[in-house]
Amino acid sequence: MKILVTGGLGFIGSHTVVELLQNNFDVCIIDNLANSKMSTVDNITAITNKKPKVYCFDVCDSAKTKEVFSTERPDAVIHFAGLKAVGESCEKPLLYYHVNIDATLSVLNAMDSVPTCKSIIFASSATVYGVPNSLPLTETSPIQDATSPYGETKIINERILQDWAKVNPQKSAIILRYFNPIGAHPSGLLGEDPNGVPNNLMPYVTRVATKQAPYLKINGNDYDTLDGTAIRDYIHVVDLARGHVLALNKLKDFRGVYICNLGSGKGTSVLELINAYKKATGVDFKVEFGPKRAGDVPANFASIDKAKRELGFECKYTLEDACKHAYMYQLKHI
Ligand code: UFG
Repeated sequence: MKILVTGGLGFIGSHTVVELLQNNFDVCIIDNLANSKMSTVDNITAITNKKPKVYCFDVCDSAKTKEVFSTERPDAVIHFAGLKAVGESCEKPLLYYHVNIDATLSVLNAMDSVPTCKSIIFASSATVYGVPNSLPLTETSPIQDATSPYGETKIINERILQDWAKVNPQKSAIILRYFNPIGAHPSGLLGEDPNGVPNNLMPYVTRVATKQAPYLKINGNDYDTLDGTAIRDYIHVVDLARGHVLALNKLKDFRGVYICNLGSGKGTSVLELINAYKKATGVDFKVEFGPKRAGDVPANFASIDKAKRELGFECKYTLEDACKHAYMYQLKHI
């Protein structure tokens, strides 16, 4: 089975490509290197002994995308390519609407031109649940107003897929809602190394632990949670990647729209994550409390019952594993 992966050199994309290759899928990649590096292909090859073909262009270019689909004739697509910085999306909303929506339209148009390309897996996000009314979040929890243009693009893309699936009853749209992916490949060859100041907690913690930043600022310690810091559901990126392989295998004959959460199913506070990181790596670092970050939800975590029951999903790695792997990757890439 051949899988075309858009954004296949990014953080989640590259880990997913490795899992696909290790499970004997053929893989080709479209990536414009906007937030990734070409050298990632060598690292994928070092882990798997297989070299996926990479087409280097912006998937928003629908003519080129169609051309690649007609050459490669993939059986399924995993669509990761897009912009993902919540803060940046508030400053540049038009850019986010343009890139994140045009990319999906381009991929779906290209799929329409290849009848044998039956499924798309779309990288959605827990952000579509907005400020939760109750926890854990299940796939039937209501979609709420997004707290950022980035989140809004995920909601719009989910709607586009629903409408597309209605007129393509012979195809399937698999929407995976990711919670907070963290960690790195245990080989130390793949990981997350954002350009500039990291927005997310784990890469920031890792910068502080490797002395590239002086201290970690915790955004708010007056939430209504056990220790006052915000709660999220952190999932090791390799476990998240494995979820895609399970979805492809289990949903081969599925037609229509399938929605599934991918998380660990556990809520972890910022302070708990910091303590786990210090314990897993043996590194101590300075922490300060600051005000809440605008747009943050106090707590969210997933119910992963559906993923367990229907996909056979389970997490192999612990929070401490994820911390150790993120640290090891960063040490190699300073
Ligand atoms: N945080 C800090 N200090 C930092 C960075 C983050 O205290 O330096 C806090 C945040 O304020 C938040 C928690 O750590 O309370 C987690 O923040 P992240 O930025 O790591 O993750 P978010 O939950 O805000 O967002 C992530 C992804 C989004 C996705 C969302 C889905 O970045 O793309 O999860 O829930 F939409």
